[in-house]
Amino acid sequence: MKWMIDVDNLNKNFFLHTQGEAKIPVFRDFRLKLKHDESVALVGPSGVGKSTLLRLLYGNYKIGSGKILVRHNGDVLNMAGADPHMILHIRKWTMGYVSQFLRVIPRVPAIQVVMEPLKVRGVSEKEARPRAEVLLTRLRIPKRLWSLSPTTFSGGEQQRINIARGFIATYPVMLLDEPTASLDPVNSRTVVEIIKEALSQGTSVIGIFHDEDIRNSLASRRVEIQPINNHNCSK
Ligand SMILES: Nc1ncnc2c1ncn2[C@@H]1O[C@H](COP(=O)(O)OP(=O)(O)OP(=O)(O)O)[C@@H](O)[C@H]1O
Ligand SMILES: [Mg+2]
Repeated sequence: MKWMIDVDNLNKNFFLHTQGEAKIPVFRDFRLKLKHDESVALVGPSGVGKSTLLRLLYGNYKIGSGKILVRHNGDVLNMAGADPHMILHIRKWTMGYVSQFLRVIPRVPAIQVVMEPLKVRGVSEKEARPRAEVLLTRLRIPKRLWSLSPTTFSGGEQQRINIARGFIATYPVMLLDEPTASLDPVNSRTVVEIIKEALSQGTSVIGIFHDEDIRNSLASRRVEIQPINNHNCSK
């Protein structure tokens, strides 16, 4: 079956320059193939590298060696060597990402934050706004907050803004980092519904879901990330 993402022989270390170049190995020859229509849950202990993997896939971190192949516009591109312009193009059309925390941009109203992924695709505000309003209403963000910057929003409100922004456009691939982590049960259920709708429309997902029931209801496969034995690796 057609794959969407093919991670091949991925190696990644972090180096802590401020701490005597301490080396933190995170991935050794890691492989993962995400097929079309598949929903993969990343599992493994805290600190093993789950969030790091999503950031590597999204091009936020440089990899050490290996390949991160992404099917984009009918081509296969290597995220690892792609230039910044191409990475932005992939993010615009192919790969969405809901990080655990919203990166808050001061002074930009919540509704604009939500509409942005559509606007960068050239959708007019007239068309984007009602779609943002539907999501904000569904996610129970009070109307009085729509025109305010999310800077002062609660953790759960910021997370719901992040979800609305992540799902306003549809992408072939979605990366989800604990999308329900700070939500109450009612809002969690809404987020699960929104993710299921995306899956039923053909989006492939790689996600981290701390809640086992939610993971079981959303993922078609689990991928265990193994800790690297890092004895003798401190330099
Ligand atoms: N920017 C960074 N610089 C240095 N080390 C980092 C960086 N980001 C992550 N790490 C280290 O990489 C390892 C993996 O971190 P990561 O956040 O990916 O874990 P995780 O599996 O998502 O854990 P959790 O379940 O607690 O969210 C950790 O040891 C962390 O300290
Ligand atoms: Mg994490």
